Amino acid sequence: MTWTKACSTSDIEEGEGFQVERARPIALFHVDDEYFAIDDTCTHDESSLADGYVDGDVVECAWHFAKFCIRTGEVLSLPATCPVATYAVKVVGDDVLVDLPEE
Ligand code: FES
Repeated sequence: MTWTKACSTSDIEEGEGFQVERARPIALFHVDDEYFAIDDTCTHDESSLADGYVDGDVVECAWHFAKFCIRTGEVLSLPATCPVATYAVKVVGDDVLVDLPEE
C-alpha cells in the first residue's frame, strides 16, 4: 500500500466533498465520522463528484444527477452506468491518508 497524505480532517466538511488534485483527481468525503475516497471524475461525462450534492453516503453528480455510493463507488442511478473506483483511507492524528496508486 502507498499511503499518501491527502489533506487534514478539518479540510473535509461533513456533507461536502473535497477534491485532491492530481492527474487522476480523488474526491474525499466525511460521512458519519468515517472518511472515504473515490475517483473524483464522474463516469458519465467528467464532472467533479467533489462538487456534487451529498446526502448521507450518496453523492449526486452536479451535472446530470447520476448518484454514486460514497462507500462502495457503486452507481445508484442513471445516466452513469459504470462505478467509480474507491481507495482505502485511514486517519492518523489529523492527517487523512489515502492508499493511492502511483501516477
Ligand atoms: S457528468 Fe455526472 S451525470 Fe453526467
